[in-house]
Amino acid sequence: MSVISLEHVGYRYPLGREDAVRDVSFQVEQGQVCALLGANGSGKTTICNLIRGFIPRFYRGEPTGLVQLAGRPVEQYDDAELTETVGYSFQNPFTQMSGVKDNVREEIAYALENLGIEREAMAARVDAMIELLHLGDIADANPLELSGGQRQRVAIAAVLVTDPPIVVLDEPTSQLDPQSTEDVFNIIALLKRQGKTVILVEHKIDLVARYSDLVILMEGGRVAMSGPARRVLTDPQVLDHGGQLPEVTRFFLERNKKLGLNDPVPLSVEDAIERYGRKGA
Ligand SMILES: Nc1ncnc2c1ncn2[C@@H]1O[C@H](COP(=O)(O)OP(=O)(O)OP(=O)(O)O)[C@@H](O)[C@H]1O
Ligand SMILES: [Mg+2]
Repeated sequence: MSVISLEHVGYRYPLGREDAVRDVSFQVEQGQVCALLGANGSGKTTICNLIRGFIPRFYRGEPTGLVQLAGRPVEQYDDAELTETVGYSFQNPFTQMSGVKDNVREEIAYALENLGIEREAMAARVDAMIELLHLGDIADANPLELSGGQRQRVAIAAVLVTDPPIVVLDEPTSQLDPQSTEDVFNIIALLKRQGKTVILVEHKIDLVARYSDLVILMEGGRVAMSGPARRVLTDPQVLDHGGQLPEVTRFFLERNKKLGLNDPVPLSVEDAIERYGRKGA
């Protein structure tokens, strides 16, 4: 059974002039990282909102089709179940801060308060998140006085602290420097090893190629291409649908074209070294 399943899902925001998403179908299995790609306005955040049940609970309107988590329609989950099942870090980390907590440590602990976890266990979990996201220096800072990148890391900590089986990350590295971006991708790899299912909206295509199992490329609210990352992200048609390809992939595709070859196209530098890195290979 798929952990996340969308079947022919469509939705229009109450004030929208056209459908934000149309006939979207895909499945994600447990432990997979699924990247949602596509140009601005193509429907990526809307899909995140559907999976988290914010559509239609918060945004209203009437979605069509079927969104299921672990084989159960999202509309059958109550609010508490959804909170426990899906951790969601918003595209804009400014919206994520509670606004009621004085320091980062409390902000991260906030999500645990309603789960009835005892104080000591709570503190241990918060400490683990502070370490995981390298927040030690700002643990006592006011959440509202942080930089965009710092807020983004606090937001991710606040999502992961409850240990949800499904994690939705909507552009989690948009404000992060290269080192913090690598850190987040290492955390995504860790979540995968823990058996969590991850939905990732991300434009940094070289990293997406390295860390994703599945790719859904959205265009104008529809799924333009989907499938295993290795298949989709080595297909030049991605470029015709507003998507990007990893740099190393573009190089090898061009090389095949120019030299009339049909060599396997690598997805990442590591992949290229593996295949072509030896002398005479
Ligand atoms: N609250 C809203 N009310 C009305 N229309 C909306 C709302 N939010 C998004 N839309 C519309 O729905 C469509 C899909 O938007 P969505 O935010 O899902 O795109 P996206 O792929 O996440 O874009 P971006 O890369 O800019 O974050 C767009 O046409 C957008 O204008
Ligand atoms: Mg978005």
